[in-house]
Amino acid sequence: MAYILLTGGAGYIGSHTALALLRAGYKVISFDNYSNSSTTALQRVEQLAGAKVISISGDIRDEAALQTVFRQYPINAVVHFAGLKAVGESTKMPLHYYDNNVAGTVTLCRVMREHKVKKLVFSSSATVYGDAKTVPIAETAARSATNPYGQSKLMIEHILEDLVQAEPDWSISVLRYFNPVGADSSGQIGEDPNGMPNNLMPFIAQVAVGKRASLSIFGNDYATHDGTGVRDYIHVVDLAAGHLKALQYLSKHQGIEAINLGTGTGYSVLDMVKAFSKVNNVAVPYNIAPRRAGDIASCYAQPDKAFNLLRWQAEKTLDDMVRDSWRWQRQNPNGYSNS
Ligand code: NAD
Ligand code: UD1
Repeated sequence: MAYILLTGGAGYIGSHTALALLRAGYKVISFDNYSNSSTTALQRVEQLAGAKVISISGDIRDEAALQTVFRQYPINAVVHFAGLKAVGESTKMPLHYYDNNVAGTVTLCRVMREHKVKKLVFSSSATVYGDAKTVPIAETAARSATNPYGQSKLMIEHILEDLVQAEPDWSISVLRYFNPVGADSSGQIGEDPNGMPNNLMPFIAQVAVGKRASLSIFGNDYATHDGTGVRDYIHVVDLAAGHLKALQYLSKHQGIEAINLGTGTGYSVLDMVKAFSKVNNVAVPYNIAPRRAGDIASCYAQPDKAFNLLRWQAEKTLDDMVRDSWRWQRQNPNGYSNS
């Protein structure tokens, strides 16, 4: 029975991956400092899976705490979700982001090496493509960063590349997620942003449920089919499945591979709003606002590498994404808090 350590296992993508791993028969250890998550998420994962998660409260920058976990369990591989991800916040607190994301990853890798655990799946992001010149975006596209969050992901990618160069017996998958949305079809686990959501889908869902009056659409004068920004939205359950495929791949291959996890299809903000309203039969009032600083017109994946290497491709539809996001929001209007 393989033990998989999930750093940040209580978070949005971590909790869905924990569920998929438990259902596939893995032993799951979550190591999370709960800086952006709740213990309730993993309790619900356990209920859904009918199996236990070994939940450890700790910070990836705390080497001694990580040592204890690696000493205690025969860990086969690590899926490293732990990180801070709010772009705006990262511009105000760069040192905090570099410390948490970059220094935390270095500490994790050091402890892994000491315990001869050299299989790692890392949560990267399409943000490493910066302002991509062409779409769809292939893994070979130029990389750049436009904010400290993106820079932290790019730095970690470089660190992992250097690590594999120096120690070729590591097996590392760098998964570049596009725009994760949706929730488990039970409506029991989902995305629970703190305060005002930055991302589109949770904002739409909060408008639909009446927590916010109107969605501001950031610009309708982009060079896209309807003028609003286009992104590659990917269902979080598909994303979770991609991590299982990456773990299987790592068990047979050494070296490092960066792999896009996206659908390959771009939808605009208006496409998303219309689909959400139609499928869920709920109103989503919106207004057109100025462009958001730093936004790009269009961003979607060239997803072929994931299929060729991992035999993974997204299966859920746009209707699944908006239906499942809404079920989670409706059943949990205040996320994991009861207030
Ligand atoms: P999330 O905030 O829900 O999950 C991250 C988890 O990591 C949280 O549970 C948080 O408490 C934990 N964490 C943060 N710092 C920690 C630390 N120092 N020690 C231990 N735990 C820590 O975010 P998510 O959406 O599930 O994202 C998971 C990963 O995927 C992140 O690295 C994120 O940057 C990356 N990513 C997310 C998106 C997205 O849109 N959701 C897109 C691309 C990449
Ligand atoms: C965000 C992050 C990026 C990360 C990506 C995937 C920012 C600036 N960038 O980008 O680093 O890699 O998520 O997680 O946060 N929109 C509105 N109104 C809103 C919210 C969003 O019109 O209230 C629009 C945006 O302008 C964009 C689209 O919706 O066109 C998607 O926005 P968002 O969910 O924030 O994702 P990204 O812009 O791709």
